[in-house]
Amino acid sequence: MRTRVAVIGGGQNCEHDVSLASAASVVAGLDPATYDVVPLTIGRDGTWRDRGMRPIGLSGAAEVLRGCDVVFPVVHGPRGEDGALAALCELAGLPYVGSGIRPGALAMDKWATKLVAQAVGIATAPGGLVTAATAAHLRWSRPVVVKPVAAGSSLGVSLVTAPEALRPALDAALALDDRVLVEDVVAGREIDVAVLRRADGRVVAAPALEIVAQGLFDYDAKYGGHADFRVPAVLDDVDAKALEDAALSAYDALGCAGVVRVDFFLTEAGPVLNEVNTTPGMTQHSQVPRMFAAAGLSYADLLDELVRGAHR
Ligand SMILES: Nc1ncnc2c1ncn2[C@@H]1O[C@H](COP(=O)(O)OP(=O)(O)O)[C@@H](O)[C@H]1O
Ligand SMILES: [Mg+2]
Repeated sequence: MRTRVAVIGGGQNCEHDVSLASAASVVAGLDPATYDVVPLTIGRDGTWRDRGMRPIGLSGAAEVLRGCDVVFPVVHGPRGEDGALAALCELAGLPYVGSGIRPGALAMDKWATKLVAQAVGIATAPGGLVTAATAAHLRWSRPVVVKPVAAGSSLGVSLVTAPEALRPALDAALALDDRVLVEDVVAGREIDVAVLRRADGRVVAAPALEIVAQGLFDYDAKYGGHADFRVPAVLDDVDAKALEDAALSAYDALGCAGVVRVDFFLTEAGPVLNEVNTTPGMTQHSQVPRMFAAAGLSYADLLDELVRGAHR
């Protein structure tokens, strides 16, 4: 019997378009011989729409979801990746792909992620939290990276190298979140590691990927078609092992499921964790599918592993 999979894309946040692209790829990539795919889209305003883009509301969406065997949420960022869609599936009693509520919420919060990482001995960039109330007291003393605690796609992220740039950077980040991280700048190569719990329960890491970018890996570099990925990343055995170990222990410490992308800076002192994405970009050309392709797992097979490994 064919499995009916609801693929949810879009979402009410600044990564809406990125999610639409991921969801469209997942819809196209699920093998039609095995799966009946039912696309659902959440508008920027929160309106749920069916495959014909007709507004159906949350109750209509619940009806559609109830008719499916598995839900495949592909909504990046707040009200999606942060555990919101996992919560919807939990409450509705629906099997779903990917991480549960707690890992989603923890990993969406870059401050909470730091605390969990530190607790299991994974280095992160030293940094502090700022809110609108405390931002005025912050004095610039050295170059920093300013970013929203919970956003994505580099939106609201700034490298601040001069005192007069601090305030505008804080304002840009505060426009996306009421908590902002001010971090030391980490000098190192940007290396991503994808971790997957396979349908048989084994947790595996794919070969690492290096992002070859000039300066910040910003929105334009990510989606302007200029991103230069090197897969597999050229690494010596010690660095490769340190990255993989750190990625696997972050996955376990947060309690992730499905596939996640763990992003690092590789410094002279070893890996420094930047962030964990529990709903990473999933177009065929995104990092995660490319990393698994390098390991011999095709895009269709990766999606198949995810659906078969869904929470039940
Ligand atoms: N502490 C840091 N030091 C150096 N570069 C950083 C730092 N934090 C972020 N960056 C750069 O900014 C990019 C986006 O930041 P990131 O924390 O990954 O936010 P997002 O969730 O939007 O992807 C990173 O890919 C990296 O290039
Ligand atoms: Mg990032």
